[in-house]
Amino acid sequence: MNSKQVVLITGSSTGFGRLFTETLARKGHTVFATMRDPGGRNAKNASEIRALAEKDSLPIHILELDVTNDASVERAVDAAVAKAGRIDVAINNAGYYLSGLEEAVTTEQAQRLMDTNFLGPVRVDRAVLPHMRRQRSGMLMHVSSGAGRLVLPSAGFYCASKFALEALAEAYSYELAAQGIESVILQPGQYETSVFGNTVTAADQGRTDTYGPAREFPAKINGALSSTAGNAQEVADAVLRIIETPAGERQLRYFVSPQNFGVDEINAVAKQVQANVLEGFGLAADTKFLKGKAAGAV
Ligand SMILES: NC(=O)c1ccc[n+]([C@@H]2O[C@H](COP(=O)([O-])OP(=O)(O)OC[C@H]3O[C@@H](n4cnc5c(N)ncnc54)[C@H](OP(=O)(O)O)[C@@H]3O)[C@@H](O)[C@H]2O)c1
Repeated sequence: MNSKQVVLITGSSTGFGRLFTETLARKGHTVFATMRDPGGRNAKNASEIRALAEKDSLPIHILELDVTNDASVERAVDAAVAKAGRIDVAINNAGYYLSGLEEAVTTEQAQRLMDTNFLGPVRVDRAVLPHMRRQRSGMLMHVSSGAGRLVLPSAGFYCASKFALEALAEAYSYELAAQGIESVILQPGQYETSVFGNTVTAADQGRTDTYGPAREFPAKINGALSSTAGNAQEVADAVLRIIETPAGERQLRYFVSPQNFGVDEINAVAKQVQANVLEGFGLAADTKFLKGKAAGAV
């Protein structure tokens, strides 16, 4: 793989996605910064990114990509491959937070969340994999969360979407290893982005009347998350380090957080248990499962 890579990022209009775009492009990596509706709702964000790319001669290309729409995902991936000839890294970053007691979350809200946070990466991975297979190299990166390992009350659906993403990404890591394609999971803790402003609130508040003090969970959790949020550039720097780590030497999981709740310990125990499971099912050799590789810090 060339040391300068071709990277497609979802959800690049704001927050992590936008920082990843600039951080990677400044190091010479070609970035397809994708977003919903760059000519409409994200016109201002898109034109700021274009202006930055022009001013500093950065290799950034903006493409439209809505992760909830199969055709939109395929169009963007095809356009990136047509322009750059390859995709080395796909960063599944688009996502949002849904806050509220679980009973107050409507089925439609739950479906919409899963459609973005889980099925979005399903679509992107399926669209890029044929190209990575042709290249016999590539990396699927999945932006999960500490909440992909921990459960916060009033964040159950968000946690479920990230737990689901972790399962998909980990299964891919075993299945794809022999083809030279890696699947990695990034688990950020709480960081300052637009995530708090973009949070969706559970709609059926009438269901919470009997919950007593538990009704305060969403406000308490949201207040604690936003007041302890770190500088998001830390996460972008971690992504750069992961991308610049030689293929074959990357870990499955990377936890990056301003607070350590013990997620690294969960990852370490899970790594050991997974090793036992794969060995127990006679799959250790076929999955190229190497004990040192499944978890760790950047
Ligand atoms: N910030 C944190 O503390 C934190 C911690 C752990 C994990 N994360 C995860 O990090 C990722 C990025 O979040 P962020 O913190 O950077 O928040 P953010 O600033 O709100 O960014 C979220 C991005 O996702 C995009 N998006 C939402 N739905 C989309 C769709 N259907 N198609 C394409 N793009 C879509 C948004 O685009 P629009 O502008 O079009 O809405 C936006 O660009 C998310 O997966 C989030 O769960 C964040």
